[in-house]
Parts: sequence; C-alpha cells; structure tokens
Amino acid sequence: MPVQNVKIFGAGSIGNHLAHASRQLGWSVVVCDRDPEALRRMREEIYPSRYGDWDDGIILHTSETAPVEKFDLVCIGTPPDFHIPIAVEVLEAEAPRAMQIEKPLCPPSLDGCDQLSRLLENEGVAGFVGYDHVVGEAAETLVELARGGAVGEILTIDVEFREHWAGIFGAHPWLSGPEDSYLGFWQRGGGASGEHSHALNFWSFLNHELGFGPASRISAAIRYREEDSGASYDDLASYHLWTGNGMQGRVVQDVVTIPSKKEALIQGVEGRLRWICNHSPEGDAIVIERPGSDAETRVFPKKRPDDFIREMRHIEAVLDGEIEESPMSYERGLETARLIQAGHESAREGKVIEI
Ligand SMILES: NC(=O)c1ccc[n+]([C@@H]2O[C@H](COP(=O)([O-])OP(=O)(O)OC[C@H]3O[C@@H](n4cnc5c(N)ncnc54)[C@H](O)[C@@H]3O)[C@@H](O)[C@H]2O)c1
Repeated sequence: MPVQNVKIFGAGSIGNHLAHASRQLGWSVVVCDRDPEALRRMREEIYPSRYGDWDDGIILHTSETAPVEKFDLVCIGTPPDFHIPIAVEVLEAEAPRAMQIEKPLCPPSLDGCDQLSRLLENEGVAGFVGYDHVVGEAAETLVELARGGAVGEILTIDVEFREHWAGIFGAHPWLSGPEDSYLGFWQRGGGASGEHSHALNFWSFLNHELGFGPASRISAAIRYREEDSGASYDDLASYHLWTGNGMQGRVVQDVVTIPSKKEALIQGVEGRLRWICNHSPEGDAIVIERPGSDAETRVFPKKRPDDFIREMRHIEAVLDGEIEESPMSYERGLETARLIQAGHESAREGKVIEI
C-alpha cells in the first residue's frame, strides 16, 4: 500500500527537507518539535526561503499536542542523542509501518540500540537510517558499473567526506558555533565521526553491494578538539577498514576541508571509478578513468531537495514490496553506528578493533 501520511520529529534543517519531499509525493505531513520557536522558524523562514512558499498542507505541532496514531511513516530528524529515546517511545505507543531515523543512528555509546532493534522486530516495523546518498542515482550507477566489470577486478575502495562545517552553520544561522548544538560534541553524535558518517556508511554500502561483506576490522586516527566554549569534538577522523572477504580500504571524514570533497574511489586492475558528490552545481558525477584513454565523466543532474524526494520514494518502494533489500536499512545504519563506536575505541587504545 502506498504511503499516505508521515509524522516528522524535528522542525530543523532536515525536518524541512523531509516535509518538503513528502509533500512532493502527495503525502499528509505532521511535523512536531519540542521548541515552538523551531516551528515558527520552519513556517516563516526555512521552508519559504528554500522552497518558495509555506505549504498549508503541513500541520505543525509542539511535541505535547502532536497526534499519537498509526502513521505510515515516522521520521526522526532531531539531534542524534534524541533519536533512540524518541524511536522507542513511538514504537511503544503508535508503531508505524515504517520508521526513518536520521544519521547517525545514535551517539557512539550505542545506548538503547539493542532495545530499539528488538522493538522494530517485534512490532514488524520497517526501519531505515537516513544515509540517503546510497539511494542516489549516481551511487546506483556506480555499483552497476563496478559489478559489470568496468574497471576489472576490484582492489581497493576509499571514501572521503571532507567538508568544513561552515556550510552547516550557514543553514543554521540561529547557532553561533558548534558549542550551541550536538555538532560540537562527539559523545552526542556530532564531530566529524558522527556528522560525516555518510562516508563510513558509503564504504560499507559499496562493500556489501560488491560482495565483499561487512567491515570486520577497523583502525582509526582521530583528532579531538577541546574548545574554551566547552565544545568537545573530533574535527578529523581517518579509518583503515578490512572486510572478512579480503577488501581493504580507507575512509576520511572531517569538518575542516574547503572546498568540500565528497568522493568514493573504486580502484580496479583495469582502472578507477570515482563517485563525486555535488561534482558541480548541476549534480553528482561518476568519472571513469582507465590508463591510456581519456577520462569519461557522467553527470547525474539533481538539486538538494531531489536527494530527499528520492529517499522518500525509496522508502515507499520498499513498503510496496518493489525493493526487497534496502541499502538504507536500519541494520546498515546500525552497522555504521558500530563502526563509529569502534573507531573511537581504536583511536583511544591505539589498536585495531575487531567488529
Ligand atoms: N541525511 C542528511 O543529509 C542530513 C542532513 C541534515 C541533517 N541530518 C541529520 O538530521 C538530524 C537533525 O539535524 P538538523 O540539522 O535538522 O538539526 P536542527 O538543529 O536544525 O533541528 C533539530 C530539531 O529537533 C528539535 N528537537 C530536539 N529534541 C526534540 C525532541 N525530543 N522532540 C522533538 N523535537 C526535538 C529541535 O528543537 C530542532 O528544531 C541530525 O541527526 C543530522 O545529522 C541529516
């Protein structure tokens, strides 16, 4: 059955994206936030400035007045340290058909994950974590090319999400700096390791899709910052990863790089595939490089709102039974959360951690 209604927790940056995407698909949308000021900002500032006009089809509520009923989809777009408590409360009170939790699934402590996993399974709820890049058109084509032997046998896979967080603060003008939000606290799910965990997730995605399996070992070097403001975060995290099926590669995530660099690189015996997120204002791209021939660039046009429309469409397709296994599944998101946790453990103890 198609999705008809969605309830979104959090009227912040991602809440606006998900509400807009849901409306483009014709769904009824309820957004709730514990902060009435966030609801005002959504209606009067963020939504109209991003999408042109406020949409009266979006119903706003404070957390206390939000309807508690069986929605087709519940999205949790709050800071990471609230994801699991809200998810558990929702599953106990109003289990929806599907639940999408934003990335990272939770802080590195992984507190509450076991309970959440049990609840999702017992209630028969389809779970997703919002690592939306893996359902992008360019990512899907990248996998098809690699599977089809475009660069021969695959030797190594690297992913980098390196981006100064000035862009994030630009989208949150009401914050004066990292200390004002979870972003400035790695233990709350912020910092480079949490905020840019799209990279760890994308590395796992490629390894799953290309038959190398999940990461089995990780070694991390992480640079932690303690600011006078009280902020305590990692601004640079680099990882070496291995899978049980013999793949070895690297992931780098940071919040210091300008201009940003979000790339995946699949090196094969016969050449290299590069996935470049936001290659140009036009969209993402894949570059195919082989020794002795000119590089071929394929562009996949998209604008930022398209990422989230595609994500919502993907969730609906899974619920409709059109897609059997989702790369955005809760299990994959949990796998990434474990890698984040193991990365901190590795950095702290200076050793390779078995997953
Ligand atoms: N997939 C993506 O590309 C993407 C993009 C942006 C953000 N995110 C993720 O979305 C999450 C939120 O980020 P953001 O930038 O939207 O943050 P934000 O600060 O803009 O918004 C978060 C909102 O949640 C509200 N909130 C906090 N606790 C709440 C609770 N208990 N109940 C209801 N509302 C609550 C806050 O008042 C705030 O309005 C983070 O996990 C972030 O990593 C993902």
